[in-house]
Order: sequence, then structure tokens, then C-alpha cells
Amino acid sequence: MAPLLEVENLRIELTTRDGIAPVIDDLSFTLNAGETLSFVGESGCGKSMTALALMGLLPDKIGRVASGKIIFNNEDLTQASDARLREIRGNDISMIFQEPMTSLNPVFTIGEQIAEVLRAHQGLSRAAAWAKAVELLDAVRIPNPKGRASDYPFQMSGGQRQRAMIAMALACEPKILIADEPTTALDVTVQAQIFDLLTDLRRQTSAAIILITHDMGAVAEMAERMIVMYAGRKAEFGPVDQIITHPRHPYTKGLISCVPHIVSDMTEERPDLIEVPGIVPSLKDFGQDRCLFASRCAYVTDKCQASRPSKKLFSNGQIADCWHAEDL
Ligand SMILES: Nc1ncnc2c1ncn2[C@@H]1O[C@H](COP(=O)(O)OP(=O)(O)OP(=O)(O)O)[C@@H](O)[C@H]1O
Ligand SMILES: [Mg+2]
Repeated sequence: MAPLLEVENLRIELTTRDGIAPVIDDLSFTLNAGETLSFVGESGCGKSMTALALMGLLPDKIGRVASGKIIFNNEDLTQASDARLREIRGNDISMIFQEPMTSLNPVFTIGEQIAEVLRAHQGLSRAAAWAKAVELLDAVRIPNPKGRASDYPFQMSGGQRQRAMIAMALACEPKILIADEPTTALDVTVQAQIFDLLTDLRRQTSAAIILITHDMGAVAEMAERMIVMYAGRKAEFGPVDQIITHPRHPYTKGLISCVPHIVSDMTEERPDLIEVPGIVPSLKDFGQDRCLFASRCAYVTDKCQASRPSKKLFSNGQIADCWHAEDL
């Protein structure tokens, strides 16, 4: 079966004070129907930019697709009009943002906002849309959903707002649900509850999920495959269980060795990715024709500084962009 989404050699450029930089550089991946694909990597590596590109929401004026394709249902979204992209966002691909207040409207009640999506998407009557909105709030485990539907966003706690946001994202029954660090603004207990909720919803909906997170425990629990991003490039891609137990890219290895217990104790702990020594290069250096991880890498050789690594494909489906992937 053809994948639900196919991203081919995508290059996204941003115009910055220092010139034009490839914030996403030659990114290719597929997403299958119903699967969960996770994106990990340090801050500034291009995870959100990838999500925004899929939604057709790149930063206005300064961001653009320079080359490559985003094929969804035989349609290349990089060529789609704004009107068509709005339609896709209302029906096929929806996103849960890190900070729910940015996407909830403060002047409408939660119930009204969810009902509005249902009316637009399913053509429901006012009363039917309201009833379904209450059902959705119940599905995301907001207590007393009938009463809470009449609350404004500011009357809810952070965790409840995030649940309401998830309910809204699910209202259009999307084929793809993108969750961009859905829990970073929340405290640890609530984070765990939101991941539990997403895990349950995963079983109930047929939507494919793109999960962007720093929480390796959540990746191990929820995702079938993962992409490790570094400086706008894909460092490693493949099945989660393989990557966690046998990382092939030194960057992945660094991220994972910071949390050794995830392998033996995947579900008990929710460890964060702790940063590897050193920092991600600045955006103006993203396009350079070398390994961008070289200056932080324990395995670095002259070749890494001289040319960009080619992809190494392993028989278990893992792909690592590293000159030394076979030695790891
Ligand atoms: N609107 C913008 N204008 C200029 N530069 C931007 C803009 N949005 C993102 N960038 C830059 O693009 C790069 C990639 O950013 P992106 O938000 O995709 O990172 P990320 O992987 O999502 O990081 P985080 O884990 O912190 O969310 C960063 O260098 C960031 O500074
Ligand atoms: Mg981000």
C-alpha cells in the first residue's frame, strides 16, 4: 500500500539577517496510515519547521519551499493554493500546538470552538454539533464535559486547555494528527496524563500521528518509527526499537546514552533528552557541505569535515547519514 504521506527531498529556506539558510535540508520520509512517527532532536533542529511545512504554515514572507515534494493522497502540497491548504487543514491534517492558548480563541467558549469545527466539517446542526463537542470533551477526559463546554479557555487549567485543543484537532477526524511537543508547557504529572490520553486515542482513531517530543519514554511507548533531526537534516530514521537499542548515528547515540534506562525500563520513566556536550550550529551554517555534527562528534575524521555524509541503509530498515555508521 502506498504511504499516506511522502516527503521527498524537501528543502525549506528561511531568509534571515545573515542571508538565506536551508532550515530543512533534503528531508525525505514516509508516513503510513495509522502509524505513529516521532521526531526528536535538540532545540532549533527544524522539527517544528517540518510540521509547519506539512500544514502549509511556513513563516510568512521569510519561509518558502525551495525544492522537493510533500505528496498527500497523490497531491503535491507544495504546489497547492492557500485555499486548498486551508481545506486540507480543516479536513485532513490537524495540529496540536505546544501552547494551546495560541490556537484557542479567547472570546469563544471551548464548546463553541469545537462545535464550529464540527459544523464546518460534518455539516452538523447547531444542537448536534454541540452534543458532539461535549462527547469529544468527554473522550479527552475533561470531567463534567457538559458544564465545561461553556467555559472560556482562560477558565481552564493548562492541562484541560491542552485536552480541549486535542478534542478540537480530532473534531475534523483528520487522517494525520501532528502533535508538536504537546506537553512541554505542562507539569510532569499532567504530561504523563496527556501522553496516556494520546496513547488511548491512538487505538481509537485511525489517524496517523506525527509526534514531536523531547520525551524518549513517550517515543518508546507510542511510536513505531522515529526520525532524529540535526541542524535541519535527518541524522537517523528507522524503527524505534532498533534505533533505541542500536543507534547508528553518533548523535542518536549521544541522545540515547544520556537516558540509559529507557532500554530496560521504557514505560516506568519519562526521561527527557539531555543535551549532548556542545551546541547545535547556528542557522547560517546549516547548508554547509560537511557533517554538521562533526565538531561535537567523538568519531570525527577528516572526511566528516570535508564532505556531507551519504545515507547508509541497514538491513533492519535503519538509515543513518554518517560516514562512520557501520563502525558504531
Ligand atoms: N519565524 C522564524 N523566523 C526566523 N527563524 C526561525 C523562525 N522559526 C524558526 N526559526 C529558526 O529555524 C530553526 C529551526 O526552528 P524549529 O522551530 O523548527 O526548531 P525545533 O526543532 O522545533 O526546536 P524546539 O525543540 O526548540 O521547538 C531555528 O534556528 C529557529 O531559530
Ligand atoms: Mg519546535
